Amino acid sequence: MNAARALALLLLAGTAPAGVHAQTAAPAWQDTRLASEARAAALVRAMTHAEKLQLVHGLFPPRAQPAPADMIPSAGYVPGIPRLGIPTLRESDASLGVANQVEQRKGDVATALPSGLATAATFDTELARAGGAIIGAEARAKTFNVLLAGGVNLTRDASNGRNFEYLGEDPLLAGLMAGAAIDGVQSNHIVSTVKHFILNSQETGRTVLNARIDPAALRESDLLAFELAIRTGKPGSVMCAYNRIEGDYACESASMLTGVLRDDWRYTGWVMSDWGAVHSTVKAANAGLDQESGQELDREIYFAPAKLDAAIQAGQVSEARLEAMVTRILTGVIASGLYDHPTPTKAQPIDYAAHAQVAQRVAEAGMVLLRNEGAVLPLAKTAKRIVLIGGHADVGVLSGGGSSQVRSVGGAPVEIPLTSGAAASFARVTWHASSPLKAIRAKAPRAQVSYVDGRDPAAAAAAAKGADVVVVFATQWTTEAQDVESLALPDHQDALIAAVAGANPRTVVVLETGGPVLMPWLAQVPAVLQAWYPGQRGGEAIAGILFGDVNPSGRLPISFPKSAEQLPRPKPVVPAGLNANAASDAGAGDGSTLPSWDVTYHEGANVGYRWYAAQGTAPLFPFGYGLSYTRFAFTDARFVGGAKPSVTFTIRNQGARAGAVVPQLYVTGPEGGTPRLAGWKRQWLKPGETAQVTLAADPHALARWRDGRWTIAAGPYRLALGEDSASAAAEQAVNVSAGEISY
Ligand code: BGC
Repeated sequence: MNAARALALLLLAGTAPAGVHAQTAAPAWQDTRLASEARAAALVRAMTHAEKLQLVHGLFPPRAQPAPADMIPSAGYVPGIPRLGIPTLRESDASLGVANQVEQRKGDVATALPSGLATAATFDTELARAGGAIIGAEARAKTFNVLLAGGVNLTRDASNGRNFEYLGEDPLLAGLMAGAAIDGVQSNHIVSTVKHFILNSQETGRTVLNARIDPAALRESDLLAFELAIRTGKPGSVMCAYNRIEGDYACESASMLTGVLRDDWRYTGWVMSDWGAVHSTVKAANAGLDQESGQELDREIYFAPAKLDAAIQAGQVSEARLEAMVTRILTGVIASGLYDHPTPTKAQPIDYAAHAQVAQRVAEAGMVLLRNEGAVLPLAKTAKRIVLIGGHADVGVLSGGGSSQVRSVGGAPVEIPLTSGAAASFARVTWHASSPLKAIRAKAPRAQVSYVDGRDPAAAAAAAKGADVVVVFATQWTTEAQDVESLALPDHQDALIAAVAGANPRTVVVLETGGPVLMPWLAQVPAVLQAWYPGQRGGEAIAGILFGDVNPSGRLPISFPKSAEQLPRPKPVVPAGLNANAASDAGAGDGSTLPSWDVTYHEGANVGYRWYAAQGTAPLFPFGYGLSYTRFAFTDARFVGGAKPSVTFTIRNQGARAGAVVPQLYVTGPEGGTPRLAGWKRQWLKPGETAQVTLAADPHALARWRDGRWTIAAGPYRLALGEDSASAAAEQAVNVSAGEISY
């Protein structure tokens, strides 16, 4: 028992409120044999009305007045109740590491993992868990205990400025990877959050957009990603989104917050709002919002004690509802282990060197080799002259912007403030200090390795001439609060690549982008490596792959289009007459003075590769795709139907290098429609080695949401085994038996 808790008990002696039966017996909320909910309910019984009101709203530290003495700059702070051992909730953004946007805590660095898409591209839940575990460890050591991590909105639009924080376009992959990452965070006895619930699919106008979609399609897409993340990761909290859904603000949607989350999924943790996403007291509280976050960002503090209490006194919100709100908060706090293992009050040392290894492993496993004609890669360490061009590759690798921004170990060698736009107040274009130039020099110590910045295509082409190899680092910065206007690389980089490739046919392109970009120069370059935003060891990971010390094994968690016209929405939807940037500023928070406008997700559950399949079109690179320096053969596929459909097969590494392969199973239901990813495995094989692998179909890929439940219809299902969503190595129709998925 910690000292604060012991003191709390002493203070309680003699004045025991209801819930404490005897002075000597430990109160029920300390009984670790009881379910978290029961312990939380016991705590609530011991709380005063004022204490309950205290827990349901949180401060935004940059604006909170007066500032509590132990509050440090970060996203949020909810004062605790020491007499009951209820910890102060110290909230930090943490999608890719403990965030420190615009360096609000001077000098406080953290390990920056690669982007969410890079993690998703590993198709490796163990790596996702390892990443979450180091984020959680650093957060705890920095005294944070509620992490705003776990972004799992599906990539419906390639132009979404936050795609890099999320986990791609498939609900099974995104949901299971998010669940693993959340589990990793919470293994440190702190709370992780899953966000943004639901359909915050674009940043343009995010506070006023009204998302519309067929309800069954929503269950089978974005909601499924959340459902799986919650089932497998058990996050202490869920963050409701800025946008509206079918007319209601996401933080006022009774059908989502109560109907889906509580009634259907039996979720026992709490719903916190996004920052500036609350618009009412009565409607939000009754819909299922449990806690108003970053209250100073809302137009009014809707869950301020006086206001919520007035609603209770007026009979508009019941006392029981307030108790449920607090019970849910405390259930999350207890279930995550935070209540029994309070965070330190002073910062602790962190093993950054060990954590950097994890960041590097994720980067190495998540980079996707998109093209490698004539085996131009891996590069020979005997190359004499190597020219690197652009992307500030002399000093670092690009990071995505917004609330997820980590101030990484090593600092920011390039940091460009924004002068306009919705992200200007909280984002800067930031590079992590992981120099590809330095890492490449270390791999080829006898080569002459030079760098030109690429601003002048003619000068870059001249420098490239005659080199053994040229590597162009192309970048696309994306950020929260803004979508990209075009999927083309910005700042004339297409022209740069074309000019360099014209001067030297041995031109390799490394892409550091938030998501898919168009590649008009593709046929002119023999090799393309998708490095995403590779995190604070990205330079080393890129060098390792370019020189073959690491065999690329990442697979695309999103489809890359040939052109924007192939997509359901070629550009982010902007309402007529509305300044998109003004409408999407998170800082402004309350968008209620702006007219709400509809975005109809007509593609329904056909997100990403399913959309291409429905249209009968082929993307530039399909979901699941990625090359290796070795070759794999799939043989002896045996498909099984019945109650547990699966495929068992043999994979052989036919090449000369060890590497990982990611076989994938897709299913198409008896009613036809589009294929759905049903399972995968990341398998490591030495040269010549074989393995027998079984992929079982996840029931959620077989089931459809009908009449209020998940039903698996009996009938013939097409099972396809392949290395990506667009081509099958083997396929067969099997009869699947009827079934249901219960909660
Ligand atoms: C973002 C959230 C974030 C919150 C707190 C919001 O603008 O949408 O993802 O957790 O700010 O920083």
